[in-house]
Order: sequence, then C-alpha cells, then structure tokens
Amino acid sequence: MGTVHLIDHPLVQHKLTLMRRKEASTNSFRRLANEMSTLMTYEVLRDIPMQEIEIETPLERTTGKVIDGKKVVFVSILRAGTGILDGMLTVVPGARVGHIGLYRDPRTLGAVEYYFKMPGDLRERDVVVVDPMLATGNSAVAAVERLKECGPKSIKFVCLLACPEGVAALHKAHPDVPIYTAAVDRELDEQGYILPGLGDAGDRIFGTK
Ligand code: URA
Repeated sequence: MGTVHLIDHPLVQHKLTLMRRKEASTNSFRRLANEMSTLMTYEVLRDIPMQEIEIETPLERTTGKVIDGKKVVFVSILRAGTGILDGMLTVVPGARVGHIGLYRDPRTLGAVEYYFKMPGDLRERDVVVVDPMLATGNSAVAAVERLKECGPKSIKFVCLLACPEGVAALHKAHPDVPIYTAAVDRELDEQGYILPGLGDAGDRIFGTK
C-alpha cells in the first residue's frame, strides 16, 4: 500500500490557494511555486539519514548531526518540474540534479521520453522526483520506472497538487514510492486537468499562455 504525505502546514496551504486563483500573474505564480516547494522540502527530507560527527566549538569538543551519505538527487520532470526545483535547491544547495524529459501524447495522454540525464552514481543516492502536478500519473509512473533501472537507494515523489486518479496510478505501479503533496483535489477531467486544480502549471510558471 503506498503512502501519501499531505503537507497541510498553514503557510503551504495559504500559498496554494493564492496560486489557484486565475488572477495570479506569471510573476506571482512562479514565486509562489518556488516558496511552496521550499517549505515542502522540509517535510520531504524529514526522515533523511543522519550521522553523528565530532566537532569542536570555540569552547569544547562535542558531537553534532549531519546528513549522511552522498548528496540527494532532485529529478525534475521537464518542463514544469523546473518551476519547483529552485525552491528545493534553496534549502539543499548541494543537491545533485537530474532531468527527465517526457511529453504528454495529446491523444493517449501517455508519457513519451525525449531526454534523460542523471548523476553517475545513482545507486548510492536517494532520489526525489519533482513535478508540480500529479494528474493522470502517466509521467510520474514512466519517470519512476526509468529511474528504477538506475537502482537508486530510494525514490520519493513530490508535487504541489495531486488528484485521486494520479495517486492511484502511481501507487498501483510503484507502491514503494511515497507521494508528498499539498492537496489531493476532487478529480481529473477528460482533458487530463485536475479539478478544481490550478490550470496548466507549466504555462502558468513560464507565462506561455
Ligand atoms: N498538468 C497541469 O499542469 N495541470 C493539470 O491540471 C494537470 C496536468
């Protein structure tokens, strides 16, 4: 059975509501997407492995905790994933970044891969896949499937907004991948848009419509 972590912090929910409004300008939509993803990263990485190291303060020797292992990898699903990547890098500036290019076939709504570039040593790293919207789930399922071929230590999926259909699809294909989202909306429409949703995240982030 898969897990959904609903990030219901008031700051995250407030920003999501502002993003949903059709009046939000490209500038404010993009800024809010950045801010939301920064805040959500705290929850996403809450259980990241730590190790204790010895340090010296100006007064004495002591121990402190630091993040263990190789740097985490944020994998952005192009193009809309880019819109939440910077926010996550704000709090984990040393993270590595991978990109997966998938486009949605307008007829089948299925995911077609056109780009794949990852850090080399994925077997020793934890991966966080980022895409603002978990709609049909086709891109998420395809991205995780492709990443599993590289054998990372773990995979998580982060989006700003999900719907029951997308959650079910990702859980069915990859029950081991936890989903982190600020909301699970009512439903998907026949064009593959989340309702009530926030529209086309890519177009709103980049101002292409
Ligand atoms: N992708 C989007 O950007 N918005 C949706 O509602 C669904 C998929």
